[in-house]
Amino acid sequence: MDEKTLQEAIANPQNLGEIVDADAVGTVGSPDCGDMVRMWIKYKEQDGRKVIDKASFQSFGCQTAIAVASIATQLIKGKTREEVLNMTAAELSEPLGPLPPMKIHCGQMVEGALKAALEGGISPVKSGVIPQSMTPQIATLHDALASAGKQVGKIKIIPLPAP
Ligand code: FES
Repeated sequence: MDEKTLQEAIANPQNLGEIVDADAVGTVGSPDCGDMVRMWIKYKEQDGRKVIDKASFQSFGCQTAIAVASIATQLIKGKTREEVLNMTAAELSEPLGPLPPMKIHCGQMVEGALKAALEGGISPVKSGVIPQSMTPQIATLHDALASAGKQVGKIKIIPLPAP
């Protein structure tokens, strides 16, 4: 893995945050580590083709996922939906080089969120419908746990009041 590229992407992640008028949104969580990535896609017409105008992300996850998402959102600009659907996780994070075995799922999570969006993720703005995964109460993993206030496996989560 290219450590310098990784550190640069972590220090200065690109395309971070929501695209308010996005055409598609996709969210994926990893059962392995509990991390989560959400990606937004906005298309435009260019030379008679529908291409990705911009993509953005939010990651409630590890630094590798942030770096891969940052790089992937830059790499896919100007590509068609079909071109991106044919890209592997390795291609989406190509500038980073091969990820170590423990970090492969981080790239796959970004790939999953991106493809979830491309394969029919709903824009909450355009559809007028806010999918359950987009409701404000569970906007973050912390909120998800806090709103749960319930049994998760054998652990009961009791949110502490704000100081
Ligand atoms: Fe889970 Fe990286 S450790 S996404």
